Amino acid sequence: MYKKLIHGVNTLVPIENNTKVPYINFDNAATTPPLSSVINGINNFAPFYSSIHRGTGYKSIISSLFYDQSRDKVLNFVKANPDFHTVIFVKNTTEAINKLSYRLKDQIKDGIVLSTYMEHHSNDLPWRYKYNVDYVDVDENGRLSLDHLEYLFKKYKGKVKLLAITGASNVTGYINPIHKIAKMAHKHGSKILVDGAQLVPHHPVDMKTLEDPAHIDFLAFSSHKMYAPFGIGILIAPKDIFKNGFSEHIGGGTVDLVTHKEVIWAPPPEKEEAGTPNLFGVVALIESIKTLKKLDMGKIADYERSLTKYTLEKLKTVPNIIIYDDEDVKNKVSIISFNIDGLYHGTVATALSLEGGIGVRNGCFCAQPYIQKLLNVPSEHIEEYKKDKNIPRPGTVRLSYGMYNDYKEINILIELLKQISNNIDYYHSKYKNPPSY
Ligand code: ALA
Repeated sequence: MYKKLIHGVNTLVPIENNTKVPYINFDNAATTPPLSSVINGINNFAPFYSSIHRGTGYKSIISSLFYDQSRDKVLNFVKANPDFHTVIFVKNTTEAINKLSYRLKDQIKDGIVLSTYMEHHSNDLPWRYKYNVDYVDVDENGRLSLDHLEYLFKKYKGKVKLLAITGASNVTGYINPIHKIAKMAHKHGSKILVDGAQLVPHHPVDMKTLEDPAHIDFLAFSSHKMYAPFGIGILIAPKDIFKNGFSEHIGGGTVDLVTHKEVIWAPPPEKEEAGTPNLFGVVALIESIKTLKKLDMGKIADYERSLTKYTLEKLKTVPNIIIYDDEDVKNKVSIISFNIDGLYHGTVATALSLEGGIGVRNGCFCAQPYIQKLLNVPSEHIEEYKKDKNIPRPGTVRLSYGMYNDYKEINILIELLKQISNNIDYYHSKYKNPPSY
């Protein structure tokens, strides 16, 4: 129902037999196409584009004002508190989490960071090499185990300083009950970081006030997953965190005073944003927020949920399908992982592209430990892979919807999956060596 809002949504792409079909993008968890309002916003701002915080010219003043005022708009979108929180603009969610991992050294020291088995590598690796990290387990369906989380908090007796957890999985779409979890974390003296990359674009997010024990301390997300792919990542954090010390990236824009003997750093957020800021990225983000707010995130979530429900029902009619899902659609964003028994995930993904113009992602989605759990990959397989990189990697095919996908597209997918699944041997040999574009 939101199709007309998206730029390039009717683009034709080649499939086999010299035919062209409208591209069906079911890879929105990786990145989303831009909203037309975002492209228009960039075009409209372009004549005023200029340097931020460095110029006295009219355009510089307009640019600086827009950039500075954008922070409150971002905070407002996720109901953060402008008196307490700050927004730091970075490149993407990965950079936001990395930044936080450098800047929490004083708070965490030799304490424990809890991550989980369902994290994207970006919310695991930045913690792994700096701190003592332990992982919250998932159950047999891949849902986070709250019992194990409670067990770990008790085991570490107040030593857990941070819980770094995804808001929604980029593999299964499962939404974690972040407020219930935040209450647990705060009760045990820990803070909570929510990786909002897959949650913020698809679901209302409320960081809540500090007095509320269910509040979220840190939130990271990316504009390229919310219809504004112009290179902005967002880190929301309490200002205090950045009072002491200095950023992992330093240079222009981060200082108040520099002599050869001393440096007085600028206050946050400026001290955390070295170099010329990405103003067009911020323009795009703000346009996207404006449109998403107008559409209402609750309505977007409802619509995407109905697409997911429809797909899960239809997928059951596909022979040999294995779906990695507990079908609790209420508590997931619109991401579904599946396999066709007997076919390599890469073969299915290639066939969908070359025969239906359908874009999906396959593999492990930068969440290898989670895929290993979901698929019960034996450790021997990993050892074999280390010796021979040519053996097939475990993985799934992933569908991830945006607000502009529709039932018609899903019907095309289901028919093609049936065709593939009814002809496994044929597809296996046809796409053993998939053609490259
Ligand atoms: N994290 C993105 C994905 O899941 C890139 O595809």
